[in-house]
Amino acid sequence: MSQLAKFPEGFLWGGAVAANQLEGAYQEGGKGLSTADVSPNGIMSPPDFSMKDFNLYHEGIDFYHTYKEDIALFAELGFKAFRFSIAWTRIFPNGDEQTPNEQGLQFYDSVIEELLKYGIEPVITISHYEMPVHLVKEYGGWKNRKVVTFFERFAKVLLERYHTKVKYWMTFNEINVLLHAPFTGGGLLFEDGNKDEQAIYQAAHHQFVASALAVKAGHELNSELQIGCMIASMVTYPYSSKPEDMFTALSQDRKTLFFSDVQARGHYPAYMKSYFKENGIAIQMEDGDLDMLQQHTVDYIGFSYYMSFVASTDPEHVKQQTSGNLLTGIKNPYLEASEWGWQIDPVGLRTVCNMLYDRYEKPLFIVENGLGAVDTVEADGSIQDDYRIDYLQAHIREMKKAIGDGVDLIGYTSWGPIDLVSASTAELKKRYGYIYVDRDSEGKGSNKRIKKKSFDWYKHVIATNGEDL
Ligand code: BG6
Repeated sequence: MSQLAKFPEGFLWGGAVAANQLEGAYQEGGKGLSTADVSPNGIMSPPDFSMKDFNLYHEGIDFYHTYKEDIALFAELGFKAFRFSIAWTRIFPNGDEQTPNEQGLQFYDSVIEELLKYGIEPVITISHYEMPVHLVKEYGGWKNRKVVTFFERFAKVLLERYHTKVKYWMTFNEINVLLHAPFTGGGLLFEDGNKDEQAIYQAAHHQFVASALAVKAGHELNSELQIGCMIASMVTYPYSSKPEDMFTALSQDRKTLFFSDVQARGHYPAYMKSYFKENGIAIQMEDGDLDMLQQHTVDYIGFSYYMSFVASTDPEHVKQQTSGNLLTGIKNPYLEASEWGWQIDPVGLRTVCNMLYDRYEKPLFIVENGLGAVDTVEADGSIQDDYRIDYLQAHIREMKKAIGDGVDLIGYTSWGPIDLVSASTAELKKRYGYIYVDRDSEGKGSNKRIKKKSFDWYKHVIATNGEDL
């Protein structure tokens, strides 16, 4: 690694959020009900359509009303980019309407204008962990081909409206979530609770086609647009040098890489075709689907990175489990874990960057990374989140090494620059922000924003373009 590695000029430093985790105002501005609105216990739990339980997502951190003051804080941090998602149900409340809800679009017009006012590059995720409930109830979610058309309409409305203002886009957040949380990822419900792989992979195919259609539409409108995929990266280490452990790790990684393989290389990989054959999975395709995938591949690889995983064939090792956002996994004896059991592995980030760049040779964009932790407000009102600084510093160092390795890395938007509702456990106790929000997991608090110690630290990192960590 070159000791002279530097973050490139114009590196996109910033933060990332998702509509359903911070906007709140779930019934304002003509918004329809989304899958997040009926998931009071987070993405890994079954939905509750009765809506009896308290749901923290309904109010989020009220960003819908506070976006101006929050964006002013991002500007103070020196953000170059801000990644956010568009709530599908603000634009098409039911999902199958012909015309969009103008009031919903106006909200995002204002958010984008506010960002541009400060010179912050808006980065849009078209779909982040939510879809209209109506599309679940009436059509069965993404396993139904019709949803491709509804998504295409939604994506085109956004691309047409914002293509002169927004250069960076991604189609589906952590598209591989479909395998682990099929309701969140694809609006799929399985009556007996057993995941039906046929339906899951059919839904994945529909999302691939929908994503390619969005890439096509975006490039036709403006060839400068950069439209990426977004995967939850899950690098897997073999527990030991036992050859079977290595093969298990490879197989586990392929479950994730399958998604970026299709979106970045433009075809179904051989290993997946074999898997489908062996498991009696038959994907229904329409004429032209495969050409569409081939011709409209993504411009960059967006990914989240929080932790690494371990694979073993030894039942004794398999027993030692730890948790993660989408998957539980085997505990790695070499790593510390967060309070939520997510194993902290900065070097793994360098490995992932190299792996993905070797595989695709397309620019990489780290669009999520961070430490979920409990923060304490001291008597003097300060929040001393040194643990967060340590985590981020160690990861940014490894990013720099990856750049030295030759990786084309274009940006880093850490997760939840302002505290927001967690996705896996639907709580506010687990915080990621540089900005504290005075609101607890019961939704109580003043909603006041307080700068944490990490605020000044990250501000300095950005100001020095990552030279002084
Ligand atoms: C990613 C998601 O998986 O992890 C985010 O894209 C999520 O939506 C983030 O918030 C962190 O997970 P959690 O469960 O700590 O919020």
